[in-house]
Amino acid sequence: MEKIKINSLGDWKRTNDCGSLRQEDVGREAILMGWVNSRRDLGNLIFIDLRDREGITQVVFDPQVDKESHERAHILRNEWVLAVKGTVNHRLEGQINPNLPTGAIELRASELRVLNATETPPFQVDGAVDASETLRLKYRYLELRRPQIFGVLRRRHEIASSVRQYLNKEGFIEVETPFLTKSTPEGARDYLVPSRVNRGFFYALPQSPQLFKQLLMIAGFDRYYQIVRCFRDEDLRADRQPEFTQVDLEMAFVDEEAVMAVVEGMMKDIFEEILKKEIDLPIKRMEYQETMDRFGTDRPDTRFNMELKDLTEVADRSDFRIFKGAIASGGVVKGINVKRGADFFSRKILDELSQTVIDHGGKGLAWVKVKENGWQSSLKKFFKEEEKTALNERMDARPGDVILIMADNARVVNEVLGVLRLDVARRLDLLPNDIYAFVWITRFPLLAYDDNEDRLQAVHHPFTSPVEEDLHMLDQQPEKARARSYDLVLNGAEIGGGSIRIHDIVLQKKMFHILGVTPEEADSKFGFLLEALKYGAPPHGGMALGFDRLVAIMAGVGSIRETIAFPKTTSATCPLTDAPSRVAGDQLEELGLVLAPEPDS
Ligand code: AMO
Repeated sequence: MEKIKINSLGDWKRTNDCGSLRQEDVGREAILMGWVNSRRDLGNLIFIDLRDREGITQVVFDPQVDKESHERAHILRNEWVLAVKGTVNHRLEGQINPNLPTGAIELRASELRVLNATETPPFQVDGAVDASETLRLKYRYLELRRPQIFGVLRRRHEIASSVRQYLNKEGFIEVETPFLTKSTPEGARDYLVPSRVNRGFFYALPQSPQLFKQLLMIAGFDRYYQIVRCFRDEDLRADRQPEFTQVDLEMAFVDEEAVMAVVEGMMKDIFEEILKKEIDLPIKRMEYQETMDRFGTDRPDTRFNMELKDLTEVADRSDFRIFKGAIASGGVVKGINVKRGADFFSRKILDELSQTVIDHGGKGLAWVKVKENGWQSSLKKFFKEEEKTALNERMDARPGDVILIMADNARVVNEVLGVLRLDVARRLDLLPNDIYAFVWITRFPLLAYDDNEDRLQAVHHPFTSPVEEDLHMLDQQPEKARARSYDLVLNGAEIGGGSIRIHDIVLQKKMFHILGVTPEEADSKFGFLLEALKYGAPPHGGMALGFDRLVAIMAGVGSIRETIAFPKTTSATCPLTDAPSRVAGDQLEELGLVLAPEPDS
């Protein structure tokens, strides 16, 4: 960098931020500080757009006002840090920028202090987002200067403070729980931390504060919350980070209704306060089995209908071999009706949809275009008139509609039609960003068979209470029992989950037994919880909201990475700090660790 005279701030105090000056301020003297967003050098006049987190103000350097600062303004470059004193002036007619809140004024500079210069940045802050993600994350502090990205982080802060305000008002108290702790089973791998003072022993970073919040209920805290980081070593996607934030809460002496009511109240308050959107309460509910039947997924996007309808009965009456074969081997036939889709669905699009079906594990897709004069479909000859009418009726199909049909076992049909429903909705623009469709999904199965491990696993976690009327199933048919659990779904995203817990030690031990956890294992992993359950545990339950996901939806961004100041890449690395990184040999030695040789690649 060439030698540039850098000034100190001296006794200058900022009078305004870069987004606040208006016409009413004309004539006033002001001192602004910020970064050079852009610069236009017209020779006799030099214009700088000065930026801080609040906005942009145009600064003019005119030799007739101050020769020296005009002279120095020639060398300014983007992202230099300045302090400028000047007078607020009207912009000339024709130079007013109606898109900027400060667009009617400018600051005529009488004195310039250059507080810092910069090397050429790796990408322009005020420019197109065309740098690679790795580069943008490496220089994340530059990207965070972009107003849109800062805006999302500010929104996150506002939502967090609104959540805190609501829970405080409802009598919850915020308690911090340990990060250096023991494994909590939330279904992912743990991040482990070796202990130096206890050689050969490891802490696990919490996948959630689940067990601690239960202990707080046993301790009589009654209503606890925490906006807390959780750590999970799992495959990452747009809506998953290895460290993410939960709004975690727990309540004593409650049933499902009480927990859900508190969370509904929170949603109502924060959506009204932050987005000025009215949320109708109570939020609608659907039991797990119903949502699987109607939407093919346990996180249905209910911004649009296009529900899955069972066509097994009428398909079985037809002569279509593929359908009949699937039904004969215990499968089902289901369809979705794309209202007024016939004109839009060219052959090319239908081929693409068939490909979606195959990519997601389906065997193929059948379709029917319903016309005024009957069906246009390769199925036409296999269905008698009366069967066509029955199918149309079942699908509520009118001329102009397109029916998409799949046959397979129920799991595949539901899963793939669920995906297809969303694919079609995206193509037809049925997913507006400013509609917020909430739904509770309740009564999930308590347990699910894990083929890999060849044993039953808890669907939520092993501390979730079974539905009372299903308790008798635990001995004979545990996989049929339902859980006192609930997920909150917003626009097709699971934004939270919770349950009423087991507070009876006998039942908790039984759950471990059903899950194939030996008493010794239960004791070594969760002995402290079992011990605590002996000492007067009240009935309790709670929930955790995925805060990053909630913010992403409320801020209208596609990935939770955009809501986190310093996120990780999809391979769980941080290009900014270069974490994770190797450590020195003596550090390993101190911890009593020896690295195995690299496996041959
Ligand atoms: P659960 O495991 O369902 O429940 O997590 C609660 C919510 O956290 C969010 N979430 C994630 N967000 C970003 N990245 C991740 N890797 C990630 N994993 C989960 C989801 C999810 O709904 N202890 C229980 C809660 C309880 O029972 O009270 C728990 O953690 O939005």
